[in-house]
Amino acid sequence: MDNEKAVFKVIAGGPLKVSGSFEIKLPGTGLVEQKDTIYLCRCGDSSSKPYCDGTHKRNGFSG
Ligand code: FES
Repeated sequence: MDNEKAVFKVIAGGPLKVSGSFEIKLPGTGLVEQKDTIYLCRCGDSSSKPYCDGTHKRNGFSG
């Protein structure tokens, strides 16, 4: 996975899918996570930001 590029895919009406090799730095904690695939909230209503929690399915998000 170290040489694999990160791939960003906008899911219509849903989150931003990020897969491949990447790091994510969360504010305040200095925590750096590496995961194979994550889904980042684009609608702004997730209760577990920056990650998608599925709320976009109920809030009418269409971006
Ligand atoms: S995009 Fe899924 S909760 Fe915001």
